[in-house]
Amino acid sequence: YLQTASEMPTNCHSDELGEKYADGVNWDELGFRIIPTDSMYTMKCSDGDNFSQGHLIPYGNIELCPSAGILNYGQGILEGLKATRTEDGRIMLFRPKENALRMKMGAERMCMPSPSVEQFVDAVKQTVRADKRWVPPPGKGALYVRPLLMGSGSVLGVAPAAEYTFLIYASPVGIYLKGRPSLNLYVEDKLRRATPGGTGGIKSVTNYAPLYQEQKEVRAKGFSDVLFLDSVTGKNSEEISSANIFILKGNVISTPALIHGTILPGVTRKSIMEIALDFGYQVEERVIPVEDLLEADEAFCTGTAVTVNPIGAVTYQTRRYMYNLVEYKTGNGAISQKLYETLTGIQTARLEDKKGWTLEV
Ligand code: COI
Repeated sequence: YLQTASEMPTNCHSDELGEKYADGVNWDELGFRIIPTDSMYTMKCSDGDNFSQGHLIPYGNIELCPSAGILNYGQGILEGLKATRTEDGRIMLFRPKENALRMKMGAERMCMPSPSVEQFVDAVKQTVRADKRWVPPPGKGALYVRPLLMGSGSVLGVAPAAEYTFLIYASPVGIYLKGRPSLNLYVEDKLRRATPGGTGGIKSVTNYAPLYQEQKEVRAKGFSDVLFLDSVTGKNSEEISSANIFILKGNVISTPALIHGTILPGVTRKSIMEIALDFGYQVEERVIPVEDLLEADEAFCTGTAVTVNPIGAVTYQTRRYMYNLVEYKTGNGAISQKLYETLTGIQTARLEDKKGWTLEV
């Protein structure tokens, strides 16, 4: 059912090290939007649990029947990971097995078969290799890799699809929030993002569009994003629309616990917790009342797209709390900056990867 769209012949040029780059991309101005690359990867499962041999095809539109499970009932999940070019010309993935495992967990919840960890990682590698010239030069960004798993088979009644498609496309990206400006967050106390027992803890495609309305409203008022509260008490900080939240108080770094299935188990979240422990902070996964957020020394969010981004201000009902970001602005020692530099240092091989988190493509 996959249709190969028009190939996009893109010429490339070489830098002084002989590395090839796609022409026509302003590598200094990358944002977080689609720049079509050469290739994408596709693999199908039409017989129960097993995916057939996948393959690369030219990047382009896909064909789906109108009654596909993904289109009608939202049977789909996504992933996101980055491939980064190092100073010495290697291309590294960051903890791709974690994404493969998270996709497996999400697939189970959405009643879908999923590729094995090996199939997933191999497919990501093939896609990145095929799109090598789209991986930005060192320090300019990354190739954002987007695996999708969807019910592509036809269904009319509410039921799992009989056919599934695993697809990976990629796009060169810069930083999600250009310049990493500190966030001006609005705490939403009516609409909820996730409920215990729901799907907030997986990357279901259905988790994002319901947030647009609120995002649009708060952005119109000058806020940068929304922080959602838990749906049981309406008192605890849970998650920003596309990122996990952390607070620092004294020597303790805290982030909402995963226990109710309402928090996305971010790969960056997990990595930042480990890095913070290495720096000697105490790290806690716990319930975080909004009050704690409003009394924190520092707050920041994490995600594959945002990496680590400081939070500058939080508005909750009639209260507005501003964090002291003087240290962040001077780049001297504030925790989110330190964590950001360490994480991106490991991802780009500027720092030694003692944890075995990176995988060369
Ligand atoms: C990511 O951080 O990779 C995400 O998936 C968040 C968003 C871009 C959907």
